[in-house]
Amino acid sequence: MSQPRVAVIGLGFMGQRWSRAIAGHHGAELAVISDVRTEVGERGAKELDAEFVLDPLEAASRADVDAVVVCTPEHLHVEAALAALDAGKTLAVEKPLAHTVSAAERIRDRAHQAGVAVLAAHVLRFEPRYAAVQQAIERDEIGAVQAIRSERIGLVADQDILQGRTSLALYYGVHEFDLVRWYAGEVATVWAARSRGVLAAHGHDVEDLYSVGLTFAHGGHGTAMIGWSLPPRVPGFGLAGFTVIGERGVLQVTQGATGFIRTLADGPSDVDVHYAPEVHGTTYGALGIEVDHFVRCVRGETDPVCTAGDGVEAVRIALAMEQAADSGATVTLEAPPPPATR
Ligand SMILES: NC(=O)c1ccc[n+]([C@@H]2O[C@H](COP(=O)([O-])OP(=O)(O)OC[C@H]3O[C@@H](n4cnc5c(N)ncnc54)[C@H](O)[C@@H]3O)[C@@H](O)[C@H]2O)c1
Repeated sequence: MSQPRVAVIGLGFMGQRWSRAIAGHHGAELAVISDVRTEVGERGAKELDAEFVLDPLEAASRADVDAVVVCTPEHLHVEAALAALDAGKTLAVEKPLAHTVSAAERIRDRAHQAGVAVLAAHVLRFEPRYAAVQQAIERDEIGAVQAIRSERIGLVADQDILQGRTSLALYYGVHEFDLVRWYAGEVATVWAARSRGVLAAHGHDVEDLYSVGLTFAHGGHGTAMIGWSLPPRVPGFGLAGFTVIGERGVLQVTQGATGFIRTLADGPSDVDVHYAPEVHGTTYGALGIEVDHFVRCVRGETDPVCTAGDGVEAVRIALAMEQAADSGATVTLEAPPPPATR
């Protein structure tokens, strides 16, 4: 295939990273950037030698584009994603796949009808430490998974970008529950408790923290703690990690400090060297691996390791967590349909 042409829709925190990574990739061309903020989009397009297109639906469906990456805010993925699928474009959608289960199912089903590959862009599947856990399980190094413990608690400063626009379930929950399914299989039941107050005191009407109990269809069980209420300067941008206990061994990701600390007049802070570091102008880290994987999907060289079906299930479990905390009752999940390859 000649160099595939890619459009990135939404040029904020993630869209800038995706755009730079695609522009620097040897196997694809960044052709189009779209954003509802004309000034931001025009500047980004000029910098990366792409064309700026104001209308996201036009960008998603243009005849001279082969693939589309949707990086708009969480509740605005669906329209652009469906437009891209209707036009037959290979698609990547930043997490969450969509903001409701039914919207996520529409994307999954439309992709299936169109026979188009979709990458549900859960970046942790491409983070070498989290991918190593899955490889060890797949190679049967630890035997059957008995239990998991997951933790992802970000900082109040996450709201500098988010400004209370989305929920913990859709922002961090989907990351954790995608890993949970990847390691331990389908979730059968979800119980959750929740606290509020810290973010509210900062003027954001969102919850602080969830404690979650899970059981799995195969019989194992686990816990997750998911939040975004920590003060500034917690090493590693917050608390995060994962433990998988099998019958013959244990696997642990401990995500403390990043391993690179920059100290300026206002004190020490971590610098990202794991997710999207740029080295000599090229994006590496988990996002670099994810973008490379997506380019290979666009070129027809491989299928997405995280499908639209996976994206639907992550949203389903995350929203079940909210429902469980609302009701105080354990939520039982139905078994998902058999996995489609795309
Ligand atoms: N994988 C990760 O680690 C990770 C990290 C952060 C955010 N995200 C996800 O990435 C997505 C984007 O988040 P972000 O932090 O980049 O947000 P952001 O607010 O920084 O950027 C969103 C951009 O989309 C533009 N936009 C808004 N509505 C649009 C529309 N209808 N059409 C085109 N452009 C539009 C905005 O002008 C803005 O430039 C979210 O789904 C978020 O959850 C993923």
